[in-house]
Amino acid sequence: MVNAQTGEDLHIRLEETQALDRDCTTLSRHVLQQLQSFSPDAQDISALMNRIALAGKLIARRLTRAGLVENALGFTGTVNVQGESVKKMDIYANDVFISVFKQSGLVCRLASEEMEKPYYIPENCPIGRYTLLYDPLDGSSNLDTNLNVGSIFSIRQQEGNDEDGSARDLLQSGRKQIAAGYILYGPSTMLVYSIGRGVHAFTLDPSLGEFILANEDIKIPDHGPIYSVNEGNFWQWDDSMREYIRYVHRHEGYTARYGGALVGDFHRILYQGGVFLYPGTVKKPEGKLRLLYESAPMAYLVEQAGGRASTGTEEILDVLAEELHQRTPLVIGSKEDVALVESFVKEQKRISNQG
Ligand code: AHG
Ligand code: MN
Ligand code: MN
Repeated sequence: MVNAQTGEDLHIRLEETQALDRDCTTLSRHVLQQLQSFSPDAQDISALMNRIALAGKLIARRLTRAGLVENALGFTGTVNVQGESVKKMDIYANDVFISVFKQSGLVCRLASEEMEKPYYIPENCPIGRYTLLYDPLDGSSNLDTNLNVGSIFSIRQQEGNDEDGSARDLLQSGRKQIAAGYILYGPSTMLVYSIGRGVHAFTLDPSLGEFILANEDIKIPDHGPIYSVNEGNFWQWDDSMREYIRYVHRHEGYTARYGGALVGDFHRILYQGGVFLYPGTVKKPEGKLRLLYESAPMAYLVEQAGGRASTGTEEILDVLAEELHQRTPLVIGSKEDVALVESFVKEQKRISNQG
């Protein structure tokens, strides 16, 4: 006979049941719960997210051993379409996504920061299939010093034919994204995603090989103390950005955090509030970050979490790309902090219009 359970026992039982339930809230189950449907489309999205999770696990595994494995770290000696030196891990991560999605039967094309043209999988390509846009390894300058890096992904519907590989159908507003998110390779590996029903974070449990629900329906604070920007570029910003930086230098309540990887800097702001900026410069008004696979997926997420993302003058999700690897200035985070940065841009415009 089960002894009469004390209140304490029942409390422990309840906690254990809750922990078990949480451990059973895997990513694929969560996606289907989100969609409240088992339709073929819902199954597709769930399968796509599962493939993203597999890519994340493969990259995380390589990263944890990178310092011990021959040829995992360092440069390839080549320069990519961005004009940036390519790290061996950039290529490994890029190839992981291709291998994982090539077999999926779901994805028609993969467009990556590391490939000038999209990788086209013709047999998977009935119209209405999906295209993955991704930054396979974000923040690769952190790699050789074992600091956090990430992967960023954006999923769009395949529209029309793209025989000439121009990927013109991808150059549409970020509001056409059907899913977006990132994987953060930090002390733990986290996957943060949205399919348009809020932002949800999962932590990889290596013992299970599963991403387990950590935070559901994350909402970014309307204001936060963090400003995240590479102040080493101060000399090449236009006056509006300099004025904003002077403002935060002179007012209490701000704290600078900059990790050199968009994914890690954004993740901190998603939880604690504040703003990340990668402004354009006088020489490069378009800035450094790429619209289709860095700024737009992050903008999709931050709007789902109640925040904002702008170029300083225009909502990121309204920007229409003219080419696959187009860059945009990025101001992203808490809506009040993004608005404050924009107010300096507006003020600068007013002054220059006065002549
Ligand atoms: P990637 O490694 O994919 O090229 O991205 C690096 C980006 C972004 O992650 C980060 O915010 C920014 O570059 C850092 O640039 P700076 O080193 O110029 O600050
Ligand atoms: Mn990047
Ligand atoms: Mn990258």
